[in-house]
Amino acid sequence: MSDVKTIGIVGAGKLGITLARVARHYGFNVNIAGSGNASKIALTAEVLAPGAVAMSSEDVAKHSDVVILALPLGKFRMLPKEALAGKLVVDAMNYWWEVDGSRDDILPSEQPSSAAVQEFLPISHVVKAFNHIGYHDLFDEHKLRGDPERKAMAIAGDRDDDLKTISKLVDQLGFDPLVIGGLLDSNRLEPGMNTFGANTTIEGLRELLDQQ
Ligand SMILES: NC(=O)c1ccc[n+]([C@@H]2O[C@H](COP(=O)([O-])OP(=O)(O)OC[C@H]3O[C@@H](n4cnc5c(N)ncnc54)[C@H](OP(=O)(O)O)[C@@H]3O)[C@@H](O)[C@H]2O)c1
Repeated sequence: MSDVKTIGIVGAGKLGITLARVARHYGFNVNIAGSGNASKIALTAEVLAPGAVAMSSEDVAKHSDVVILALPLGKFRMLPKEALAGKLVVDAMNYWWEVDGSRDDILPSEQPSSAAVQEFLPISHVVKAFNHIGYHDLFDEHKLRGDPERKAMAIAGDRDDDLKTISKLVDQLGFDPLVIGGLLDSNRLEPGMNTFGANTTIEGLRELLDQQ
């Protein structure tokens, strides 16, 4: 299991900036990229996530221990594939028709979106996490371990070591980690499923999964 010190985030919108803010709160180094030049998001990062460093997506990939994908899913084929090779990549993206258009245009039908992302990044280690809780809940629901009100974050991935690293990271960012299976099971967390939007305790999340 790797120890994460620097979190990279690709996508500097509602989710990306919120994650950057939470990660800075818990003392991580944060590198963040938007769709264009770093200067476009530098002030936003400075004001909303003080200490987060704006850079290009390639530099985020190169200079971070873990890279969280927080861009529209329809844009995943624009990711810097070479720079992400060998990296632990956390896919927080969801298919959202208002943003992404027809699902069939961006994903093979029936394939969980995170499995498609893994296929596109064959040498990266993709884990799904941070996708089912809304950014507003991430913003104000992170809590220290042991708090009875602490909420849970579902995680899916194919390698034990990666799941351990991301479980620890989720815990360090204020949520109880719950591994739900491999990437082929990650459609259990996608929009339309009862877990999507779930902002509940680990018992509550287990109950929702049991009902599927
Ligand atoms: N919002 C939530 O509560 C939430 C929660 C969990 C997961 N998610 C998922 O997280 C992703 C982002 O959602 P959001 O609500 O944060 O969207 P958003 O506010 O629209 O932000 C999207 C960000 O991605 C950037 N971007 C677009 N294309 C890019 C590219 N090729 N490379 C790098 N960055 C790029 C955008 O930059 P520009 O502004 O320059 O285009 C923007 O900074 C989606 O897949 C969504 O389903 C969202």
